[in-house]
Amino acid sequence: MSRTAQEFKELYGHPPEGVWAAPGRVNLIGEHTDYNDGFALPFALPQRTEVAASPRTDGALRFHSADAPSGVVTLDLAALDPARPPQTAESWAAYPAGVVWALLEAGLPVRGVDLHVRSDVPNGAGLSSSAALEVATALALTDLYGLPLTRPELAALARRAENAYVGVPCGVMDQMASACSTEGHALHLDTRSLEQRHIPFDCAAAGLRLLVIDTRVKHALADGAYARRRASCHEAAAELGVPALRDLPYEELDQALDRLGDPVRRRRVRHVVTENERVVRIEELLRAGRLRETGPLLSEGHRSLRDDYEVSCPELDLAVATAEAAGAYGSRMTGGGFGGSALALIDADAEEPVTRAVTEAFARAGFKPPSITPAAPSAGATRLL
Ligand code: GLA
Repeated sequence: MSRTAQEFKELYGHPPEGVWAAPGRVNLIGEHTDYNDGFALPFALPQRTEVAASPRTDGALRFHSADAPSGVVTLDLAALDPARPPQTAESWAAYPAGVVWALLEAGLPVRGVDLHVRSDVPNGAGLSSSAALEVATALALTDLYGLPLTRPELAALARRAENAYVGVPCGVMDQMASACSTEGHALHLDTRSLEQRHIPFDCAAAGLRLLVIDTRVKHALADGAYARRRASCHEAAAELGVPALRDLPYEELDQALDRLGDPVRRRRVRHVVTENERVVRIEELLRAGRLRETGPLLSEGHRSLRDDYEVSCPELDLAVATAEAAGAYGSRMTGGGFGGSALALIDADAEEPVTRAVTEAFARAGFKPPSITPAAPSAGATRLL
């Protein structure tokens, strides 16, 4: 029996009916495009969240996490209310509770659950620990209750849980990456149609490595800056008379910018439109097996997020600049920003010098030591037991 299943048994006095897992993600390119109906190219990390679960018939929800000090959080399914999600020490339970709430809202029958969570996706590192928990919970519940959801539907429902119940206004990229990725591939995502393409992405075979540099600066998407970016994109789309910024062709960017009065709004639009174009170009390069050539586009993406979208921070900028100076083909922040992680595309044998250079630069700047690990595209959500 797995550790997660064993812990479940000790906690609830009976073995779980199953164990499910959903991974965190890194986004290779396509940042802050998902709430603009645009494109993204994430892949799943090997780090994942496991959920052991059994159904209940009495309307009780019992949630426990090996990683939270809250003990068992007990909620009443009939009383779930987005206006009153679990608070403080129990706030992690808002994610599984939100998933139950979203399933009920969609008219799907859930009658209760015992659930135990164990995760090695770091929290607040910009690697989608929230989406991993939501998607693992949603997959457990759809299996336990035989609910007829496709993976994109499951991801959309997990996103709804986060938007409407937890109160974080994220897009759908993280949940789609966690639910739909496949090993050895990046996931090309059209966030309007939820169409996906699995693009072979084998760094090792090309003699390359992707490093994830967790700056250990905690990001908090709910703090308003993310919501403001989102709002200015929607305002700009309205001003330009398009349903979403996705509908602005790259070739018409300059004319569109000329029509926008506000300089901040112009920069936001320039980021989104050029970033969508970078997704298109990087997908082409991956398909052609020209992985090294994606490097300059990754770095260009970072500058766009730093200067036009203004969601970077000194730690991310230092990680990127140092990785580049130490020989990375390209480097960029990944995820929502304001902290979290950067990625760097390097030669396989450059892992040690790049890691050392970034670690030393952080020490010289008086920053916390970063946590640096290689990442390979891994499997999406799955049933383990
Ligand atoms: C966070 C959100 C995603 C996406 C990224 C930025 O990770 O959860 O939906 O908007 O930021 O690309």
